[in-house]
This record gives sequence, structure tokens and C-alpha cells, in this order.
Amino acid sequence: MKKIQSLKLKFPKTLQKKIDKRKHEGSFRKLKISDPTLVDFSSNDYLGFSKKQSISEFAEDKLKEYSSELHGANGSRLLSGNYPLIKDFEIYLAKQYDAESALVFNSGYDANLGLISSVAQPHDLILYDELSHASIRDGISLSPARSYKFKHNNLKDLEAKLSKFQNKFETIYVITEHVFSMDGDEVEVEAAIEVCETYGACFILDEAHAIGTLTNTGYRDYGNKIFARIITFGKSFGSHGAFIVGSKDLQDYLINFAKSFIYTTAPSQDTIARNWAAHDYLRTEPQDFESLRSIISYFLDTLKTHNLASYFIESNSAIQSCVIGGNQKVKTISNQLQAEGFDVRAILSPTVPEGKERLRFCLHSYNTEVEISKSLSKLSKLLN
Ligand SMILES: Cc1ncc(COP(=O)(O)O)c(C=O)c1O
Repeated sequence: MKKIQSLKLKFPKTLQKKIDKRKHEGSFRKLKISDPTLVDFSSNDYLGFSKKQSISEFAEDKLKEYSSELHGANGSRLLSGNYPLIKDFEIYLAKQYDAESALVFNSGYDANLGLISSVAQPHDLILYDELSHASIRDGISLSPARSYKFKHNNLKDLEAKLSKFQNKFETIYVITEHVFSMDGDEVEVEAAIEVCETYGACFILDEAHAIGTLTNTGYRDYGNKIFARIITFGKSFGSHGAFIVGSKDLQDYLINFAKSFIYTTAPSQDTIARNWAAHDYLRTEPQDFESLRSIISYFLDTLKTHNLASYFIESNSAIQSCVIGGNQKVKTISNQLQAEGFDVRAILSPTVPEGKERLRFCLHSYNTEVEISKSLSKLSKLLN
């Protein structure tokens, strides 16, 4: 008992100060259990796949097909954790995404960290969108390469930087997101590919929020023009994990040098079977994707009806962000919407820049027009 008390007393002062600062700034985070009775405008389960019975059944069939009695992975991929189901799933993914290879990681965070930190070398340069996800920025800070950000979704600024740095570095990597996680807006992929091609840069595209929301296939014909695509299972696929598609050389390289791939237990067979099932379902049953697209259209129309469009960042994706500004103000409005039965979360600084604090509406195939009308009508009253 005494020992526990003295440990508690020893919590470093500098860390306590950081916690106090967060509390003072209204940005202290607490874990909260989601209330299932609220209307879901917050989860990343855009297509409702995490609850879909037919996906669960297909996943069970997959496990039976591979006569797998193991539910875990039993080790890292390079040791005892490389089982036939995961190997065949990667072959399936490579085919579906029209690439030479696919490599599964435990999460999108791990995939970005492992990829970026291992490929970029001391004489290389990384150019990345200024609003890139934390996993991209952490991958960059672990790499020995130089790095600069370019203005958000501004291909002119990217081009100016590529032109300035061309021939000054061995390899230039350009990294961005297809759909931005906090803003919901999109990069023009084809144009970005063209810019990278012009300057001989390697293009890395994080597609976490794009697959299943902008396209139900995701298998667009990018050919070999993208160095690496990162796709996560935790969003539209309603599960957990991620994979990187690219060349066979990239796969060989990552297996040898990406630490977040090497030094960790492989994903469980249960997870892989579910991810496979979810992929097959998305490809063959387009109805949830179509419902999501029509809910997004309805949401955008309703914003106009309530004169709310100017508060929202322009977006055609499942992420719709209402920029309000000020941690306290956003939290208050989020709480008021929650009290009315709508689970709309506040996104605070420092997750987003100060002054750009916002409410983020995540839309789903299972949201209804009535839920959207009621929540936006309430929001309009709170804002005006
Ligand atoms: C753009 C983007 N990349 C990567 C990730 C990380 O993916 P995961 O949740 O699988 O770690 C996220 C998750 O929030 C994301 O939004």
C-alpha cells in the first residue's frame, strides 16, 4: 500500500504541468464510452460493416476453409506468425488493387510509421501536405530525410517546391491523403500523380478515408504510378489493421526494413478473415456504398436549406466538418447536440490548428434523412 502511494507521488512534475496546461486550455482528453442510443455521427464505420452479420458468417467460412483452429497469430510475420490465410489475403488484395504486392500491417498508424521511416534515406527529401495525419508526421520524424510541408491541397505550392529541390536530393517522396481525416476534402489524385511524374518524385497516398466512401471498389487504375497506397481496415471495412500496396520491390524492402512490420505480433487470423470478408462484401454488394453516397448528397443539400454551408469545409466525402473556433465553444455545441441525441464530436486543438476547432459529422450508410434534418436544424439554431 505504501509503495503504491510513493509511486503516485513520483509522477514527474514536468508531465503534471503538461496535463495542467491541457486542462487550462480546455483540450484535456478523457476516454468516453460511446452511447449506443445516440445517432451515430462519429464512428468511422461508414458502411456499417462492423455490425454486418453476413460479413461475420463469411469470415467464419474463411476460417473453416483454412481449417484454422488458431485465433491468434502466434508470432511475428518473420517468425511463426506467417500463416496461409494472411499470405493468400495479400495476394487477393494485390489483385484487387491492381498492384504487384500488398503487405498487411497491424494498423494504419503502423503502416505509415513503418513505410515512411524506413524508405526515406539521409540524402532524400519528403514533401508532405501540411494537414497530414499524425501517423504520417510521426513516420517523417523517425526518418533521417529532410522534410518540408506544402500548403494544404495546393499542387501549385507542391510543384514550386519540387522545382526548387529537383536534383538536390537523391529521391523525393511526396506524401498526402486522399480524403483528409479532419477536413473531409480531397486531393486531386490524378493531378498529383502527374506533378510527381513530371519531377520524378515517388508518390505516397494515404487512402484511409477514401476507400468505401468515394469508391466501392477502390481498384482504380493507377497502374504503377503510385509508389505506395496505404489503405486501412478500421474505417469503411469496420474492422482493424491496414495494408500497403505497391511494387514487389517495395514489399521486399518493407519486410526487411519496416520496424513496425518486423517487431510486432502479426494480426490474428480472426481479424484477417473478417477483413477479407469485408473486402469481398464491399466489392459484390454495392447497396451500402450507394446509401452512403445518397446520404452525403442529402446532407449537402440540407446544409444549404439551413444556411450552414459557409461553416462547413467543402467536402464530397463522409467527413463533414463545421469550423467554429475555440475549444470551449465547440465542446459546448457538441454537448448540446449530444443532449438532443446526436453523437457529433468536437475536434479540438492541438488535433486541428488553433482557431479551426470544429464539429466533425461522420456520415454513414445507416444514417437517415430525418436524423440529418433534425441535427442540422438544431445546429443552425445553436450557431445563429
Ligand atoms: C488519414 C489516416 N491515416 C492513418 C490513420 C491510422 O489508421 P489506424 O486507425 O488504422 O491506425 C488514420 C486514422 O485515424 C487516418 O485518419
